[in-house]
Amino acid sequence: MKLPRVLSFDSSRVSLVEKNGQCVIVKKSLQREYTQMIEAQRHLCLNPIVIDGLTLRVVPVTNWDNKRELLTTIYCGGSNLEEYLRGCSSIDRVRLLSTLKHLLLAMKGTGFLWGDFAPRNIIIDWFNSIMWLCDFERKIVLRECPVSDVGFTRYIRNYSFEEFSSLLLIEDQNILFDGLFTEEFGKVAIENISSKRKKEILRRLFGNNDFYNLGQLCEVEDLMAFVATPL
Ligand SMILES: Nc1ncnc2c1ncn2[C@@H]1O[C@H](COP(=O)(O)OP(=O)(O)O)[C@@H](O)[C@H]1O
Ligand SMILES: [Mg+2]
Repeated sequence: MKLPRVLSFDSSRVSLVEKNGQCVIVKKSLQREYTQMIEAQRHLCLNPIVIDGLTLRVVPVTNWDNKRELLTTIYCGGSNLEEYLRGCSSIDRVRLLSTLKHLLLAMKGTGFLWGDFAPRNIIIDWFNSIMWLCDFERKIVLRECPVSDVGFTRYIRNYSFEEFSSLLLIEDQNILFDGLFTEEFGKVAIENISSKRKKEILRRLFGNNDFYNLGQLCEVEDLMAFVATPL
């Protein structure tokens, strides 16, 4: 058994080990990831998401070692979606993208905004019909009500848009994103943008400002997704 060679994988932080006859993943992390995993799992228990027969679940946590800042989760086997998208047939890809689109709409409907929504952080166990989510380092937002169109647009554009674009041709991106984005108005403070790359492109294109129009931010995000897109 081995971990897939996904984008930005860091073997000095994440390792697959055997403990008491069970395969687990040990990850150098922060307490916040552990807390967010517990909160996300609780939210999914109260507001279950089942998409095309697959139940959405957080990979089971078995230990948080506060002193050494080590998170242990049970190794969950199945198709890692980054590997899957790189190697699957076009029929399987279209089917998966349709499932992911349904997933996004369900997340919007149930107020489940998982910050690390990227293909490499999703594993599908087809045999047991489970969609596992790993990686909860980025901020999650859990609501008791549906997310607004504007809020959801910002959520997807902020991170997942570029992450998925790097693995999908334009026509496949359209299957996933068409109809999800609404126009955004207003301003955003530079201090609220976490991506260093995004901040640098904003500065170079629009000057060194404390605030940028959301239209300008969208332009940069479109550019970044386009540059990442395989041609
Ligand atoms: N519990 C798990 N079961 C199976 N694979 C896992 C599990 N946890 C992590 N992985 C794999 O290890 C990779 C890195 O783990 P992740 O938590 O995403 O760390 P990072 O924050 O470095 O991205 C994931 O992309 C996934 O492929
Ligand atoms: Mg990850």
